[in-house]
Amino acid sequence: MYRANHWSHARHPDRLMIALQRADLALVAEVDGEVVGFVRTMSDGAFAVYIADILVLPDHQRRGVGSDLLRAVLTHYPMSTYHHQVLIAERDADGFYRRMGLSAVGAFGLTAFIRTRDKP
Ligand SMILES: CC(C)(COP(=O)(O)OP(=O)(O)OC[C@H]1O[C@@H](n2cnc3c(N)ncnc32)[C@H](O)[C@@H]1OP(=O)(O)O)[C@@H](O)C(=O)NCCC(=O)NCCS
Repeated sequence: MYRANHWSHARHPDRLMIALQRADLALVAEVDGEVVGFVRTMSDGAFAVYIADILVLPDHQRRGVGSDLLRAVLTHYPMSTYHHQVLIAERDADGFYRRMGLSAVGAFGLTAFIRTRDKP
């Protein structure tokens, strides 16, 4: 899944395994017995959840798989209990999250900060 979407995680299988083992929730989507989608989260189990990765195989994108996975995650962490559900959207994926009812932090007068190896 990571390799098919050219994500660098695929080059670090040992670290990826740790990330999967420590996930609060990890779900796959299957079509005809084939895993075509994946999502994992990190959470304190009380207030906040970070949706770390959501990935659909390229041949299965735009068929509702990603929205099924995201809906399952959003439902798993109900807003009646949790304070916020957050994620960092890839440049070309923000339309997907807006479609799913999420808002960019700026809409609340907030700013999200990030420290990363990548240069802006
Ligand atoms: C982003 C991703 C998870 C979306 O999953 P998907 O299965 O393709 O999305 P869905 O088919 O469930 O689409 C749900 C809705 O969002 C829209 N949508 C999907 N991807 C979109 C995009 N990149 N930009 C704008 N809208 C998008 C769809 O048109 C659909 O709208 P509709 O219900 O009005 O038809 C998937 O395309 C993917 O794996 N991309 C590569 C990895 C990636 O960038 N992941 C996100 C990391 S932040």
